[in-house]
Order: sequence, then structure tokens, then C-alpha cells
Amino acid sequence: MSIKLPAIGNSQILSVGSYRPKRLVPNSEIVDRIESNDEWIQQRTGIQSRRFAGADETVISMAQAACESALKRAKLKIEDVDTLILATISYPFQAPSAATELINVLGNPKAAAFDISAACAGFCYGVAMASDLVRAGTSKNVLVVGVEKLSDFTDPDDRATAFIFADGAGAVIIGQSQEPCIGPAVWGSDADARDAIVLSPAYTEFRNSPDKGVAELGWPNISQQGQTVYRWAVFTVSKVGIKALEAAGVRPDELGAFIPHQANMRIIESMAKEIKIPESVVIADDIRVNGNTSAASIPLAMDVLLEQHPELHGTLALLIGYGAGLVYAAQVVQLPPKP
Ligand SMILES: CC(C)(COP(=O)(O)OP(=O)(O)OC[C@H]1O[C@@H](n2cnc3c(N)ncnc32)[C@H](O)[C@@H]1OP(=O)(O)O)[C@@H](O)C(=O)NCCC(=O)NCCS
Repeated sequence: MSIKLPAIGNSQILSVGSYRPKRLVPNSEIVDRIESNDEWIQQRTGIQSRRFAGADETVISMAQAACESALKRAKLKIEDVDTLILATISYPFQAPSAATELINVLGNPKAAAFDISAACAGFCYGVAMASDLVRAGTSKNVLVVGVEKLSDFTDPDDRATAFIFADGAGAVIIGQSQEPCIGPAVWGSDADARDAIVLSPAYTEFRNSPDKGVAELGWPNISQQGQTVYRWAVFTVSKVGIKALEAAGVRPDELGAFIPHQANMRIIESMAKEIKIPESVVIADDIRVNGNTSAASIPLAMDVLLEQHPELHGTLALLIGYGAGLVYAAQVVQLPPKP
């Protein structure tokens, strides 16, 4: 007895779409509460402004707008999508998942739908899974959406985080392809350093006294050890980018774009140096205007890059996601064709 399996195929990104909240918040609106200044923030992170969602811009509504834009550009209907993967760390409900709410709102409540929690690596984790689902024949078209409303989980008085995190959503559709257009994912974690970024209510108290009731712990906010994260990103995660290029058999000078997680412009520039990205490659810098949107940052940066540089459609890009866990994932992808 043997089991029949479909032949392994190929996958590609068919389209990208995004949603940016309407309100742009300059550094000048953040600095007073954290005794900071615009120059310090720009010099350390490159961030000039970020977007904060209003009350009517929810995790679901932002993700919906990004998905509808991606569907329109791929000329697909929601009925053509059989799987939805939603990456987020800022949906405040455990169950039912954000993905099931979203797929219902989008209008295909029969599709497979689930959330993944891999923080700022969530989008690349989602792309890795979607690509393999399509290649194996489990799914035909997969919507992968990264969405965050981190302004709900950031303490405006915390000097280490208040100027970094932001809101938004970005989505891609991954479908079948004649040629291989998504390279192998190089992914993993450094879970022994998992205390370096935390989004949890009173995390230390919770760890030290697990008998304490969850209700006593209060609202969760992000906290981080900035220098630990910085060094890990530059020295450990850059190597993951090099491995993803090797796994795809692609040299840095064959890339059209480098689109790493938009955490910090200095990290992005140092990573590019470590990976030896040549000057001919366009480097995403959406962090400057839109801040760090965690799981949403790579598709948001991809979308704006293609808007600014239409010649990049169909070229190869190196994606690298990394964040709380600590977790990481990288892959080389062919950017979607011009809609
Ligand atoms: C957060 C980050 C910008 C802080 O920069 P840093 O150089 O590590 O800052 P430090 O905490 O060591 O503090 C350095 C100095 O700046 C001051 N400082 C800290 N926060 C400040 C702020 N928000 N505004 C102004 N000054 C600040 C400190 O008081 C200290 O002053 P001193 O030298 O007089 O003692 C930096 O660590 C970073 O970008 N880390 C990566 C974080 C990240 O990207 N996270 C997301 C990953 S998904």
C-alpha cells in the first residue's frame, strides 16, 4: 500500500498589497514624554515618523484592506484563495483566531485560516509555509498577511521602545508557478535569548511567580534589551541572509532588492555590509517614514519599493525577518510581476 501524492511543483509571489494608517506621527509628537529629541532618534534608528492607527483602523480592517489590494492586483477573487496565514503579535484575542475573522470578512469562510506568532519574522515564516503548501499541492493560492497595531501595546513613556514601533498591514498572494520563484527558507531561533524582546503583561513577575493570576498582571506592553537585539541582528541574523542566498544559488549582485525587516536603519545598513550587498541593489528604507511594524514591515516595504522603483517587478529580492523569540527566517524571492 502506498499513498498517492501530487508531484512537487513551484511557487511564486503573484502580488503584494498594503495598508498604511492615515495618521503620520512625527518624532516631535513622541519626544517630550521620553526626554528624547528628533536628532537622537534619527541618528540611532533613522526613524523620522511612524503611523499610528485610529480607533476605526483595527488589526482586521487593516489586514482586510491589504488583502483586497493584493487580490485586485493578482486579478483573483477571494474564492480563489484556499488558505490564509496571518502573522501578528498585536491581535488582543487568543481565540477564535484573527485569520478566521479576516477570512470571514473577506468573504470565503470555508478556506483554511490560521495565525502564526513569530513576531517580526512572522511574514517570512508565513511565506516559507505558504510556498511549501503550494509546492506540495496542499493549497493552490495562499494569502499571507502581516499586520500589527503595536501602538496598542507600546508604553508611550518607555524610552527604549516608544519611538520604534508602529501600525500597518501588508499582504502577498502565493500561487503556482512554472519556474521556482521562492527560494528555500533558512529559519530558526535563538530561544535561549528569548527575554531580549517581550510583549507580555508584567513578564518578570509572571515568570517568577507563575501562581499569580493572569488577571492581576495588567495590560501587556513591549519591552526590549536594545543593545542585545542590535548585536544579534547585525552579527547573527546577517549570516542567515548569506545562507539564504547560498540556498537559492543566488549571488548578492544578482539581486534587484534587499528587503530586510524594517527595525532600524543602522541595522539595515550594517546587515547590507555584512552580506556584501553591492550598490546596484536597492535597499528598502521604509523604516524612516513608517517605523517598525513588526510582521507587516517587509510586505509594506516591498509594496512601496515597487511603487518607487517599478523596474524591480520580477527581479530577485532577499527578505530577512527577525524578532522576539528570538526567531529569524530569510529567503530569496522573485518580486511579483507588474499588475
Ligand atoms: C533602542 C536603541 C536605539 C537604543 O540605542 P542605544 O545606543 O542602545 O541606547 P542605550 O540604551 O545604550 O543608551 C545610550 C544613551 O542614550 C540615552 N537614551 C536612551 N534612550 C534614549 C531616548 N529614547 N532618547 C534619548 N536618549 C536616550 C541613554 O540615557 C544613554 O545615555 P548616556 O550615554 O548619557 O548614559 C538601540 O539599542 C537599538 O536600535 N536596538 C535595536 C532595537 C530594535 O531594532 N528592536 C526591534 C527588533 S525587531
